[in-house]
Amino acid sequence: MEHIRSILGRRLRLGVIGGAPGSFIGEVHRIAARLDDTYELVCGVLSSNPQKALQAGKELGFPSDRLYKTVQQMLESEETRKDKIDALAIMTPNDTHFEYSMAALDKGFHVICDKPLTNTLEQARALVQKVRETDLVFCLTHNYTGYPLVRQAREMIVQKMLGDIRLVQVEYVQGGRAREVQVSPDMPRAWKYNPEKSGPSLVMGDIGTHAHHLLRFVTGLEVSQVSAEVGTIVPNRQVHDFAGALLRMSNGARGVFWATQAAAGVENSLSFRISGSSGSLEWCQEIPQRLQFFPLDGPAQVFTPNGPGILPAAAKVSRIAKGHPEGYLEGFANLYTEAAQAIGNAILKLPHRDYDFPGVVDGLKGLEFIEAALLSSRSGGSWVSTHQVP
Ligand SMILES: NC(=O)c1ccc[n+]([C@@H]2O[C@H](COP(=O)([O-])OP(=O)(O)OC[C@H]3O[C@@H](n4cnc5c(N)ncnc54)[C@H](O)[C@@H]3O)[C@@H](O)[C@H]2O)c1
Repeated sequence: MEHIRSILGRRLRLGVIGGAPGSFIGEVHRIAARLDDTYELVCGVLSSNPQKALQAGKELGFPSDRLYKTVQQMLESEETRKDKIDALAIMTPNDTHFEYSMAALDKGFHVICDKPLTNTLEQARALVQKVRETDLVFCLTHNYTGYPLVRQAREMIVQKMLGDIRLVQVEYVQGGRAREVQVSPDMPRAWKYNPEKSGPSLVMGDIGTHAHHLLRFVTGLEVSQVSAEVGTIVPNRQVHDFAGALLRMSNGARGVFWATQAAAGVENSLSFRISGSSGSLEWCQEIPQRLQFFPLDGPAQVFTPNGPGILPAAAKVSRIAKGHPEGYLEGFANLYTEAAQAIGNAILKLPHRDYDFPGVVDGLKGLEFIEAALLSSRSGGSWVSTHQVP
């Protein structure tokens, strides 16, 4: 595919909201955006504190006429510039995703937003509507689907190498919240412990939505029904830190979902096991260059990203020769680069194509899954359809 820089004759101009020094994900977005030299970072409001926003803008080297103190000031000023931003990337606490996404779309900017899409279903639905009305690009950074071997797994399922999908398992296990902590307003990411900001279920918004999206992406199936328990395991904690669920998938396959941030010592163990009528696949984010394939009739096989002729789906999103590990940052960058292609095409009014990056509808599905799981959990684990959520 021709690089968007040569099609457009320039890099895309990107603004950012959130991601001040010390934030978790801000630097990752900024690296990911620039890894393929597709975007130029031209402005941003990195903090809700106007002085810190100014300072951070200076440190990132934004030009003096593009140093903004507030998001509103940035949007209003950018809208009137000849060299205005093309896209806005949002990496702020969850409760602001809706407001900033709507504001950016209203000003005609394409959006790249971190997950979860919003904190409520109502907001998610309104955002889907807004994206449809404006016809702008919306990329939701469920970054784990950018790994080469996740793309390979999906391709193998499309090619029916597993036969008909019968059983699915996805888990996202972390230990970052295994300790009992006294929450104070000045600690990093204190907002996560406030449901008004982090949403109705911290563990589901933080990592459950990633696991849910990964499962949908790889299998091409939807979660139709869920029987769940969502709750809190660490003493004296108000927000959810674990969620377990049985799943019924759209093709009748059965599944298990497990997400927790309270597993002491575990690092970032996002993994899936998919079984069909003629074989199974297993992958874990911590060893991303290994995809294990277990055919029903034959020896187990290990796939690695292995060059264009051999695994084209993986090669399409790999940058270096086989044997050189690519991981989190590169996977994140793949979504940015794919979004750039879509944004470039939109600017040039070229026809829409199918893109691999997650979008606003994927975000809505994530919110539907959260709501269904919470409804089920409140009713003692009864089966709830994801289409049943009000
Ligand atoms: N995709 C991933 O793998 C991943 C990983 C971590 C976090 N996230 C998501 O990224 C978002 C941020 O999470 P985090 O862990 O980096 O949080 P954080 O608290 O570390 O950082 C948030 C940043 O946003 C800034 N900010 C807050 N309100 C703002 C406002 N109104 N205007 C401008 N800046 C504002 C803060 O100053 C801070 O720099 C969350 O939605 C989270 O779910 C995604």
